[in-house]
Amino acid sequence: MYFAGQHAIITGGSSGIGKAVAKLLAKEGMHISIIARSKTKLEAATNEIKKVRVKTTQQVLALSVDVAEGIQVKQAINTFIDQIGSVDLLITSAGIAHPGYFQDLEFEIFERTMAVNYFGTLYAIKAVLGFMEQKRQGHIVLISSAAGLTGIYGYTPYCPSKFALRGLAESLRGELKLFGIDLSIVYPPDTDTPQLEQENKTKPLETKAITGSAGIWSAHDVAYEIVKGIKKKSFAITPGWEITLLSYFHSVLFSCLGWYADRLVAKVRKENEEKVESNDQSY
Ligand SMILES: NC(=O)c1ccc[n+]([C@@H]2O[C@H](COP(=O)([O-])OP(=O)(O)OC[C@H]3O[C@@H](n4cnc5c(N)ncnc54)[C@H](OP(=O)(O)O)[C@@H]3O)[C@@H](O)[C@H]2O)c1
Repeated sequence: MYFAGQHAIITGGSSGIGKAVAKLLAKEGMHISIIARSKTKLEAATNEIKKVRVKTTQQVLALSVDVAEGIQVKQAINTFIDQIGSVDLLITSAGIAHPGYFQDLEFEIFERTMAVNYFGTLYAIKAVLGFMEQKRQGHIVLISSAAGLTGIYGYTPYCPSKFALRGLAESLRGELKLFGIDLSIVYPPDTDTPQLEQENKTKPLETKAITGSAGIWSAHDVAYEIVKGIKKKSFAITPGWEITLLSYFHSVLFSCLGWYADRLVAKVRKENEEKVESNDQSY
């Protein structure tokens, strides 16, 4: 087996896509280390991952860390490596999203989103790099988003953080290749996870109309595509044909998508205004 006996470190491994990938890799015989903030969720995820491992000798470790704190990330990764051994696979899945209208969102949301989604990824990569360089082997997998391929109405804090990951991946890939380290970037579609549930609380109606047409994947199915992509050493991992098309043609498609999104926005706004007017009249 490609993965058996190897060590995977997964940020955001206590929930959603990160946890689903952790479980698939545990089923492949890997040692698993996960990072997230909530100790309760980490403990529950650790138990779930242990249940699906193929050998009881496979270690499953968890540490509560905020990925936006570079020193904490480095210390946690060093601890995992001290206890399990060098790292073979890093998956950076920790992420947050807070959609809303640009003018309503405080600076703090933009700064925090970039700190977690972009710098949280960068710190983890920096922390594993020395170990992978030494072995001249390893694989780093960044979890971006479909929102890292095209700007989406209502996602002004999130899209730039996921675009930034694409810029990082595309510029870093060649440097890592010289050390025998592979790099992949994943563009998941909407996936049924606690993050999506949280997003829906602040998502503008227009954003719901734009993203709603694409359908929702399960975390397991996205994780399956990720593991398949890692095995094939694909640079861009694009679950589903829509995301695959978008990843090939996003610049060409952007003007068409923009036109389509503007029409949807106008339609939703008109319907909403009519609803408000009819509610006013009924009083
Ligand atoms: N769900 C989707 O529709 C979708 C689509 C495209 C891309 N993605 C991306 O996929 C990744 C995983 O998202 P998900 O949907 O699986 O969300 P999720 O179920 O909410 O999982 C997010 C994970 O990240 C951790 N996390 C969040 N902030 C953190 C921080 N500051 N430090 C350390 N850990 C942190 C969370 O644990 P704690 O909260 O306990 O820290 C949790 O383990 C994210 O990068 C997301 O942007 C998701």
